[in-house]
Amino acid sequence: MQESWREISDLVVAYDPVTLARQPVLREQVVARLRAQGQGRAARIVARWPVRDGRLIDEFVDGVLLRAHHQLQRLSEEFRQGERTQRLLSPLLAVLRAAGVAPPYRVVDVGSGLGYVVRWLAAHGGLGPDVELLGCDYNATLVRRARALAEAEGLRCRFEVANAFALAEPATVFVSTGVIHHFRGPELHGFIEAQRRVPARAFLHSDIKPSYLAPLGAWLFHQARMREPLARHDGILSALRAHEAEILSRTASAACPDWSIGMLDGARSSVPVLRVMQTLIGVEHSLRAGFERALAGLGSRITWRGGTA
Ligand SMILES: C[S@@+](CC[C@H](N)C(=O)[O-])C[C@H]1O[C@@H](n2cnc3c(N)ncnc32)[C@H](O)[C@@H]1O
Repeated sequence: MQESWREISDLVVAYDPVTLARQPVLREQVVARLRAQGQGRAARIVARWPVRDGRLIDEFVDGVLLRAHHQLQRLSEEFRQGERTQRLLSPLLAVLRAAGVAPPYRVVDVGSGLGYVVRWLAAHGGLGPDVELLGCDYNATLVRRARALAEAEGLRCRFEVANAFALAEPATVFVSTGVIHHFRGPELHGFIEAQRRVPARAFLHSDIKPSYLAPLGAWLFHQARMREPLARHDGILSALRAHEAEILSRTASAACPDWSIGMLDGARSSVPVLRVMQTLIGVEHSLRAGFERALAGLGSRITWRGGTA
């Protein structure tokens, strides 16, 4: 894999950075870029898509993304992404309360897609009445579907078309699932630094853990459970592009020098199929000791950068 390879889903949509209005994307530019990078299969997928005046048609692209995200939800269920977030979030919220941080505690899911994790937390998380759950995504079609699903399930959570780092009512804690590998190098640094600038008090970013088995596992899962060609392509590439724990924690330490940075399940294991995800953790230094105590047994699976508190 080359570092320049990109998921199709990152190339076929573009948003104005301020208004988040959709911007036109020329199919031939995307196809030429994918071909030039050696991503022939991805180029053939996009080359089949319809255009109007050479531009990809938003409704068609969003239909593909919706199907891909519905299929992605199968992966979220399989890998219990809701529980994974809740097991870290509950102790973190307990520490914020104990430290006297004023409620409400706004938990913002960055790049929430169809909102699986936010909806799971609202349904099963038991986080308390002082917690607000908000999912943010640039894509209005995904946000509309997330809202409809939450409404059908009668859940206390919200979804907004918004840049999660530019909210009028900022986050207390940021979470995300399967998002951070989309950001590399200076973009990854900027993604992490934005949270300290908000300023939030902590973040929990879960993503695929790289291992020799991850690409094979992703291929098997995507053959078995995914039908949309974009979903199959991007899912397998995501496993190949997953960040090493060391890169995540080093970048986070540089971006947030006054925070404690840890990795849950970042350590390489001999049987990687048992731990398919890892979580980058950032907390203000003052919260770290209380958080470690509240984590109880889970704490042994976290490696803190720079060692003990
Ligand atoms: C891989 S998808 C989301 C997957 C979703 N978390 C899930 O597990 O189903 C990544 C999404 O992140 C969104 N995104 C990236 N940066 C964002 C930001 N700063 N604010 C809001 N959405 C963002 C993109 O619009 C895209 O839809």
